[in-house]
Amino acid sequence: MAILASGSGSNAANFMAYYRDHPCISVSLVVSNNASAYVLERAREAGIPTAVLPGPMWEDSRAVLSLFDRHRVTAIVLAGYMRLLPPYFIRKYPNRIFNIHPALLPDFGGKGMYGMHVHRAVINAGVTRSGITIHLVNERYDEGPILFQATLEVQPEDTPETLATKVQKLEHKHYPKTVENHLLKNHTPV
Ligand code: GAR
Repeated sequence: MAILASGSGSNAANFMAYYRDHPCISVSLVVSNNASAYVLERAREAGIPTAVLPGPMWEDSRAVLSLFDRHRVTAIVLAGYMRLLPPYFIRKYPNRIFNIHPALLPDFGGKGMYGMHVHRAVINAGVTRSGITIHLVNERYDEGPILFQATLEVQPEDTPETLATKVQKLEHKHYPKTVENHLLKNHTPV
């Protein structure tokens, strides 16, 4: 699999650790749109190849697809990746692109809803539950089939920051496992 991430990459690091000794799945490439993203440092430390693909480079579909092919990528994990994927890329990996959202979709999703923006919106809305959503990415982006959700109670004293910490714990616990279950169930030899 390839991991696409734009920021710190704690989920990406968690995937690299989870799959390090896996018998049939490995992380073979870490891609960021942002050359200074800390996730690239984490990948280098783990000895995993990295690539930086800023927005305009995605227009060259042949170059992009051949990069992923060279690393024998057959599944994509979005881990805090803040850009839309082009349709040709989504078509190349049908039902094999995963995303995690730090709230309970379909609530608190859509344009501009990422990272701390989501947790601020949850706290401002005064809801008593939040959680995580792991879903497949299709051409209607945030509407891909949901594979897994886990919930937590929002406490009256929670701030966006404390909520983010609790949500991230849930992400680390469930994201690699949910992807593994899906890939092993839908395995096609390559
Ligand atoms: C994660 O909490 C993830 O759910 C969120 O970005 C964070 C990345 O953290 N993704 C979105 O908001 C997507 N809409 P990380 O860089 O520490 O893994």
